[in-house]
Amino acid sequence: MTEPVNVTVTGAAGQIGYALLFRIAAGEMLGADVPVRLRLLEIPAAVRAAEGTAMELDDCAFGTLAGVDIFDDPVKAFEGANVGLLVGARPRGAGMERADLLEANGGIFGPQGRAINDGAASDVRVLVVGNPANTNALIASAHAPDVPAERFTAMTRLDHNRALSQVAARTGTPVSRISGLTIWGNHSATQYPDLFHATVGDVPGAEVAADREWLTDTFIPTVAKRGAAIIEARGASSAASAANAAIEHVRDWTRGTREGDWTSAGVYSHGEYGVPEGLVSSFPVTSAGGDWQIVEGLEIDEFSRGRIDASVAELAAERDAVRSLGLI
Ligand code: NAI
Repeated sequence: MTEPVNVTVTGAAGQIGYALLFRIAAGEMLGADVPVRLRLLEIPAAVRAAEGTAMELDDCAFGTLAGVDIFDDPVKAFEGANVGLLVGARPRGAGMERADLLEANGGIFGPQGRAINDGAASDVRVLVVGNPANTNALIASAHAPDVPAERFTAMTRLDHNRALSQVAARTGTPVSRISGLTIWGNHSATQYPDLFHATVGDVPGAEVAADREWLTDTFIPTVAKRGAAIIEARGASSAASAANAAIEHVRDWTRGTREGDWTSAGVYSHGEYGVPEGLVSSFPVTSAGGDWQIVEGLEIDEFSRGRIDASVAELAAERDAVRSLGLI
């Protein structure tokens, strides 16, 4: 039997964790023929709840699940990790300032980055889901100098999927016939869902985007504020769709993106499209199964340039804030 892949999931007893673990264990992320060993990390107060989830995982009797271990210490949880899904984060509490939020998350993602550096497998790939995801990825990476910065990524796949579904609904085109959509920048309200390089059925995305009123007043804000709309409707945040996006991100990263298409992911910038080097920003990316490649050479018009620059400026401000707090 092949050696199991070690997948460490933080925040395992949370909402996203509950929607995520069963699908990973069923082979939906790494493949139906790839055995998986889950390593769950929680804070001590939630370890018992994680144990309950582990009991349910046992009860599914998944053929691909080689074992489940639970930890409250990141050093142990990341030992031998091939994939790290960093979901647990500190949510913004009432009256909490941005600096407090960044500092609290620095206290989580700094030590986790160090634990990955010191104990993870040499092929470790990290997806940060916990918000502020891009900057948390930057913090974790800064504490893992021996791991290539390209291996720390932030999730914008949910935004990408939300954009796909909005375009599908607007044009009556099946999602499977839409390609070339991009989320640029930060996983926040400033993100820019870009239609200009898309193909929607047989129509260029630029034609769909020609209705500027729909583009600026409906499409872009609907995608960017979808998370808040779901909280308002469901009384809880988007967990199943976030878990689905995390699975698709790692699946495409490790097994390759769809032929003739790209997806979106928060990845390390080497300066592509004028995004300052070192930021973890969302870009159009492909993978042939192993490494994300930023799609280069897309023409960016003035409208898109302004939107991308605004979101990237927010990322740079977050980086400056964590730097001045001594977190990176
Ligand atoms: P949740 O509050 O249900 O679960 C979070 C879990 O993380 C809790 O069980 C908590 O005990 C655990 N946790 C907190 N600190 C931890 C630490 N230091 N180590 C290990 N575990 C820790 O939250 P939910 O709904 O599962 O969301 C998790 C995160 O994902 C949030 O930050 C949320 O904002 C973010 N999110 C990101 C999305 C994206 O597209 N990037 C989409 C949706 C959510």
